[in-house]
Amino acid sequence: MTLRRTVLVTGGSGFIGSHTCVALIESGHEVIVIDDFSNSSPEALVRVETLTGTTPTFYELDLRDRPGLSDVFARHDIDVVIHFAAKKAVGESTQIPLDYFDVNIGCTTSLLRVMHEYGVHRLVFSSSCSIYGDALPKPLSESDVPGPTNPYAWSKWTCEQLIEQATRYHPEMRATALRYFNPIGAHRSGVLGEAPKGPLHNVMPYLMQVAAGRLPALNVFGDDYPTSDGTAVRDYIHVVDVADGHVAAVEHVDDVPGMQVFNLGTGVGTSVLQLCDAFAQASGREIASVICERRMGDVAVLVGDPRKVEVAWGWRTRFDLDAMCRDAWNFQTLNPNGYTAGVSPDVVAAEGRRAVGIDTVEA
Ligand code: WQD
Repeated sequence: MTLRRTVLVTGGSGFIGSHTCVALIESGHEVIVIDDFSNSSPEALVRVETLTGTTPTFYELDLRDRPGLSDVFARHDIDVVIHFAAKKAVGESTQIPLDYFDVNIGCTTSLLRVMHEYGVHRLVFSSSCSIYGDALPKPLSESDVPGPTNPYAWSKWTCEQLIEQATRYHPEMRATALRYFNPIGAHRSGVLGEAPKGPLHNVMPYLMQVAAGRLPALNVFGDDYPTSDGTAVRDYIHVVDVADGHVAAVEHVDDVPGMQVFNLGTGVGTSVLQLCDAFAQASGREIASVICERRMGDVAVLVGDPRKVEVAWGWRTRFDLDAMCRDAWNFQTLNPNGYTAGVSPDVVAAEGRRAVGIDTVEA
């Protein structure tokens, strides 16, 4: 039986955060959420409750509000913090780099200060494969030298170094950084999924809009990369696998002193056009695409070597690309307007059960 822990999840109503809350609750942990809802909706936490029967305690808060953050730590006996809250779009980061540095680095330093003040010494940090730069010509391992190519990646790499330095000077602190590759998909029930607020940035939300007939085609950012079909290659990983990886991290964060770093990926590379084909197959819809200029900050290939976490924790991904596309499309069909009002979570849950032929709403 896993030791029950009280886990503070910053960014817990976001895409990965909300799926991680479900996985943590199902693993017997208590969850507290902080989110400023800048790129997510409180509805995601209603969906967490629909799936688990448990409503996480949550606080609407910007982590840079240190008095407000201190109040949360004063109210709860927190064992572990999972820190998701950040801005996370590569392309957008090249347009507003200072916002990315202020939010991503500012929130992290504020969190580290308050954790230290309240004697909370266990941190799981949401890092990113984007800190590596280009993965040519081989899958990336954790020992590869980072080479960030955009402000988002620089902010994540900077945060990793700050956390690692903090563990050096505060040896009571232990941290794990998870460098995940490209999370896509949704909870199999269709009750929870990727529902960004504001402008879309990532490829899967665009693909869902194209399949739903709301966009005429996917703009493919470049077909002149040194890859099999000229389009950029990424290591797509099911969001439920990413969530499960965070539960494993919570259960292993005490293992060694200092900061550990692990890739969360599948080791399988998929080009943008191959992803379009896979999504067309899974959705049964035509996916038109238009080749455009490269997007600033992008690299040709980002594929991870997943072996280190498998050796250390015996953890590996469970879902393939078809399952990622199937589950993403199932979420889209059950939630055509994302989490905006209109469809009650109970209806979505019932539809989700019917759609995937399961008698209980489980992943
Ligand atoms: C994927 C591919 C684009 C949109 C993401 C997250 C980041 C990090 C890494 C976790 C690229 C192409 C995209 C479109 C396209 N994950 N694309 N047309 O930039 O790899 O980063 O994964 O930390 O947080 O943002 O993901 O989905 O934006 O792009 O051709 O309309 O799809 O060029 O090759 P990215 P993405």
